[in-house]
Amino acid sequence: MLKNLDSKKLSSEVPYFTYVWAEDAKGLIGSQGDLPWKMPAEMQHFVDVTIGDVVVMGRKSYESIPHPPLRDRVNIVLTRNEDYETKGAIVCHNKAEVIAYLKDQEFKKPIHIIGGSTLFEIFMDEVDVLYRTVIHEVFDGDTYMPEIDYDQFNLVDQSEGKVDQENKYSHTYYLYEKKHPIRLN
Ligand SMILES: NC(=O)c1ccc[n+]([C@@H]2O[C@H](COP(=O)([O-])OP(=O)(O)OC[C@H]3O[C@@H](n4cnc5c(N)ncnc54)[C@H](OP(=O)(O)O)[C@@H]3O)[C@@H](O)[C@H]2O)c1
Repeated sequence: MLKNLDSKKLSSEVPYFTYVWAEDAKGLIGSQGDLPWKMPAEMQHFVDVTIGDVVVMGRKSYESIPHPPLRDRVNIVLTRNEDYETKGAIVCHNKAEVIAYLKDQEFKKPIHIIGGSTLFEIFMDEVDVLYRTVIHEVFDGDTYMPEIDYDQFNLVDQSEGKVDQENKYSHTYYLYEKKHPIRLN
């Protein structure tokens, strides 16, 4: 169940594309192939948003998962390597192949683009819903969220994350929806 945000406030009908990510105060999302922070509550939020759905990710993000694939989700991995093989994930070699696969499967569930930066670049024309977490700190790292035109989106919900011993940084969960949604089918 989604605890931090109310997805019932969305008017988009499945299947719609979402972005799901966490960024620091300057838009940083990654450091040396990993997340720049340890935030179990944010990880749980990610699970709550994506469980049971379809997740699409770049090969580097896929390989950063401790025991891939992500359980109880349809995993799609994008790589240019024609020889790439992995158990438990669909491998696609370009965006058109991903779209063709999704149309063919006729999923009746959200399709979450979960990073990294290169994937967030290439699905910018398709994305309807943004699950954005902002961690109100500045970290060191090397991978940033591409620029998003928030004027094209309405903020439909937000909530403050709980700070505790394991989740030391103040953080906010946001849910946005595109003003003029684009449909997959
Ligand atoms: N904070 C967050 O919410 C969040 C979320 C996700 C990831 N991250 C972080 O982001 C970093 C990784 O991001 P990244 O941008 O460097 O890598 P990435 O997007 O995860 O993966 C890049 C790889 O995806 C494949 N790819 C990308 N575009 C493609 C295309 N058009 N066609 C075919 N294949 C394509 C290529 O794989 P090949 O090289 O195999 O061809 C490319 O090297 C890590 O530090 C990770 O922890 C953070």
